[in-house]
Amino acid sequence: MGVEVVVEDLSKSFGRQTIWQDVTLTLPPGEISVLLGPSGTGKSVFLKSLVGLLKPERGKIVISGTDICRCSEHTLYEVRRRFGVLFQDGALFGSMDLYDNIAFPLREHTKKSEAEIRRIVLEKMEMVGLLGAEKKLPGEISGGMRKRAGLARALVLDPEIILFDEPDSGLDPVRTAYLNQLIVDLNAQIDATFLIVTHDIGTARTVPDNIGMLFRRQLVMFGPREVLLTSTEPVVEQFLNGRRQGPIGMSEEKDSAQVAAELAEMQAGGLQDPGGPKGGGGTGIVPQIEPSPGLPERKAVQRRKDRVMQILHTLPPAAQDAIIASLTEAERARYGVFAGAGVGRGQAGSPPRPQGPPPGRPPSPAPRGGQPPRPGPQPPQPPPVAQLPEGGEWGSRSGELPGQGQGGQSQRRPQDPGQWFRRGGRS
Ligand SMILES: Nc1ncnc2c1ncn2[C@@H]1O[C@H](COP(=O)(O)OP(=O)(O)O)[C@@H](O)[C@H]1O
Ligand SMILES: [Mg+2]
Repeated sequence: MGVEVVVEDLSKSFGRQTIWQDVTLTLPPGEISVLLGPSGTGKSVFLKSLVGLLKPERGKIVISGTDICRCSEHTLYEVRRRFGVLFQDGALFGSMDLYDNIAFPLREHTKKSEAEIRRIVLEKMEMVGLLGAEKKLPGEISGGMRKRAGLARALVLDPEIILFDEPDSGLDPVRTAYLNQLIVDLNAQIDATFLIVTHDIGTARTVPDNIGMLFRRQLVMFGPREVLLTSTEPVVEQFLNGRRQGPIGMSEEKDSAQVAAELAEMQAGGLQDPGGPKGGGGTGIVPQIEPSPGLPERKAVQRRKDRVMQILHTLPPAAQDAIIASLTEAERARYGVFAGAGVGRGQAGSPPRPQGPPPGRPPSPAPRGGQPPRPGPQPPQPPPVAQLPEGGEWGSRSGELPGQGQGGQSQRRPQDPGQWFRRGGRS
């Protein structure tokens, strides 16, 4: 099974340029998480920090009890071996054929015999659908095949954590769909912890269990997919719908007056941006990709269900509804919840959710901090679903977009079931 990766208050700068600060999130073991964010927000820097190629100035990255920001070179080397990384272009050696490229980490890092290496290389090539292409040079094959070769190479040391840096960049929609299926199939087979950086909205909507978003040097949100996919946080909504209107501008940021004007106009129905994003837009939950027929179920699915049901009462109402709607009748009974009514009565630590409101109601206010106020008339709001425990914070701080805050006190985030659902940044 994959390992948990705990990132706490992590900050990285280059000279005087802060890339991101106070990033806090946990990658649950064996689950697939996606990290979104406009170009240049430091997603690649984040991946490189996780494998110890870059050193954040502050914060922790804890893997099996080791803080890799503060360990010896030898320990870092040992931890790094537990990672597989698929770099953007596959990062293959141009002069080596695919076989030698994929065998490279085994020859470099192990004392395995050539016979053993051959067995492993062919096994991984088969997993990514490249059997028969052993003698090809990287320059002779398509971008999609190069990515799959890079993936096979990332697999040879049996990683417990795999990082994908824009695996779909440069691929056409059909190749992207195949690659996404391959990622889900691999997860079902090896149960490693996956983190995927992508720009592709279709990938973000259909592949991961969890989604995070970097914007303006902050982790705006990180949480179960249902939270981000139903979020009304302007940055998240804009990105997941590939819209021009919103806080993200041509050169990353727009001034707040323009953002407010656009949002007001959109609410009034005046501004339309019908241009669909790459990978499909729309709002709401779409089904997650399942492993191909014949493959085992993803082991992370049940673990995630248990985990998410534990933190259900900390999630926004729309996300609660989506999660409950995805359960079978038997599961609802087991978890003590019922459709359209959130967390069931009598569940320890979970305040009962008020009945209703009817389907199609507008999103409820955030229990704390929460969504920035939307311009325009506000319909009557139902009472908040549940109290948010310490540490189970979500949404943007005090209705502000990241980067617009006034700073403020640091808040302790205790270890609790809500630890997988936190936003970065200090409140
Ligand atoms: N090694 C480095 N030295 C200095 N600046 C860097 C380095 N690597 C990345 N950066 C800067 O960090 C910022 C984020 O880069 P990156 O992580 O590549 O963004 P993303 O992957 O989100 O598009 C960019 O402004 C980039 O110029
Ligand atoms: Mg990048």
